[in-house]
Amino acid sequence: MGGAGVLTAAVATVISGDTIPVDMKVSLKPASTVYPEPVFIIGTYNADGTPNAMNAAWGGIANEKRIMVCIDKGHRTAANLVERGAFTVGIADADNVVACDYVGIVSGNDVPDKFARSGLHQTPSDLVDAPVIDELRMTLECRVVSYDTESEMLIGDIVGIKADESVLTDGKVDPCKLRPITYDPVNRNYHVIGGKVGKAFSDGKELL
Ligand SMILES: Cc1cc2nc3c(=O)[nH]c(=O)nc-3n(C[C@H](O)[C@H](O)[C@H](O)COP(=O)(O)O)c2cc1C
Repeated sequence: MGGAGVLTAAVATVISGDTIPVDMKVSLKPASTVYPEPVFIIGTYNADGTPNAMNAAWGGIANEKRIMVCIDKGHRTAANLVERGAFTVGIADADNVVACDYVGIVSGNDVPDKFARSGLHQTPSDLVDAPVIDELRMTLECRVVSYDTESEMLIGDIVGIKADESVLTDGKVDPCKLRPITYDPVNRNYHVIGGKVGKAFSDGKELL
């Protein structure tokens, strides 16, 4: 087995008797790298009622109305969401990169009111005991199902979604208006998610 930088694949493959040129594959070290990684902004309330937020890329949808996020047990967020049984997941977007990155590099354990410095504002969710960040245009409102301090895995039920009218087309979230960002963990950059390239559950039908 090759380590990083070792070429492992042939330059051509044969399918149905045809020779098809393929790019060479290189073995890289295992890492928490998939594309796209989300940029979730996890909103919670501190014990004194001030809002807190943190950036999380290690997460995704776990079931139809369920979300999973890996949250370090030392983070203020972990303590907050266990205490209140709730959290929000704001979708970071291209207009709020600085604030969204800021909440990922300072801890509420050190800075009591991260919101004040970030310039973000919040409104309490009417569904769960957690803040909806005013500046973010789409937010999931979640109830804690479980938080396991061993695996640091948070599971939450999505009980509601708040979206600004400005990101809707015909009443549905339009990603071209929302302009969510994705985290590139290899180069430590944020990229805006680009335009539509296909129709899901549909384009493949031409091969049926
Ligand atoms: C791009 C990015 C992605 C991050 N992803 C995660 C993550 O998935 N899980 C995690 O525990 N921390 C993650 N962090 C780190 C936390 O956001 C950071 O430690 C934050 O200060 C914790 O805040 P808190 O202590 O106020 O909760 C990430 C930070 C950045 C900048």
